Amino acid sequence: MTNKKRLLTGDRPTGKLHLGHYVGSLKNRIALQHKYEAFFIIADLHVLTTKNKPEDITEIDKNARQLVLDSIASGIDPETATFYLQSGIPEIHEMYTLFQSLVTVARLERMPSLKDMARAANIEMPFGLLGYPILQAADILCVRGEMVPVGRDNIAHVEVTREIARRFNHLYGETLPIPEGMVGEVPILVGTDGQAKMSKSLNNAIFLSDSPKEVEKKVRKMYTDPKRVSADIPGTVEGNPVFIYHNAFNPNKAEVEDLKERYQAGKVGDVEVKDKLTTAINNLLEPIHERREKYEAPGLVEDIILRGTQRAREETKQTLYAMKKAMGLSGVWNRIQRKAEKHHKKQAKQDD
Ligand code: TRP
Repeated sequence: MTNKKRLLTGDRPTGKLHLGHYVGSLKNRIALQHKYEAFFIIADLHVLTTKNKPEDITEIDKNARQLVLDSIASGIDPETATFYLQSGIPEIHEMYTLFQSLVTVARLERMPSLKDMARAANIEMPFGLLGYPILQAADILCVRGEMVPVGRDNIAHVEVTREIARRFNHLYGETLPIPEGMVGEVPILVGTDGQAKMSKSLNNAIFLSDSPKEVEKKVRKMYTDPKRVSADIPGTVEGNPVFIYHNAFNPNKAEVEDLKERYQAGKVGDVEVKDKLTTAINNLLEPIHERREKYEAPGLVEDIILRGTQRAREETKQTLYAMKKAMGLSGVWNRIQRKAEKHHKKQAKQDD
């Protein structure tokens, strides 16, 4: 057994991963995965909080597969990481129920992230969405996660998790670890269209699985300095998506500096700047595609999810058992069962 601290994080399976995920979370997960014992949840029940139509649910298998495939292709080691499917561990919802009495509605109603999600999905706040952070607390605490790297929008959910764990321990005795949230330093990656965020639904994403040709096409169409109508006009580098991407993905710093200088002086065409960016991104993606191919065989990723879910379920059962024991809740059902059994035996004797 390892004495490393446990890291737990995860995603809703909503589709293929893109460069925004890579710089925003994957890179950090890859860097941390061996320092900790790494668990990654595929949070399919969380998808239902905003998308619960049958046609959304049928997508989950495929999306979960893509999520894990993209993660492994990017460098998460499937030999050491544990990927688990939330809906494959029914004890998580049991825990979720037990946690619900430890948080007030007012606390949840104040959370901007939940309102943002309802607005983005164009729905009125469902009860399940209000409970989103409580379910997330169950995801984290079920495997007794200690370190939780998340995006800025999710740090408030880790805060709720901490409150739940503290409240639980205070009421019932020390049982749960108080996990620590960890927010990355990297800013959110802009979309290829210059919009604030790269996102599948905004149609401004370069996916990790995009072919070199697709990358070239998307980069060619990228938004740059709109005032720069020809190559001899000095352009702005600051806040320019093409240069933001060069900073993020081009390891050749001298080339990037040279391009910036010439761009600001009106001495380079957009085509050259973009073609060099295409090359840089394709160089980054090449080994990712190679690893992806190795894991693409049907059933291989599913087997990784199966084994991970079995492992996480064992951990969850242990945590849940400890929780119910601390609460005195397991005793209730045991005593009722015992008394009923006694009664059955007595009746059986009388009937003899
Ligand atoms: N809320 C995360 C998201 O925005 C997904 C998630 C679900 C998660 N459970 C988690 C993240 C537990 C970290 C820990 O997609």
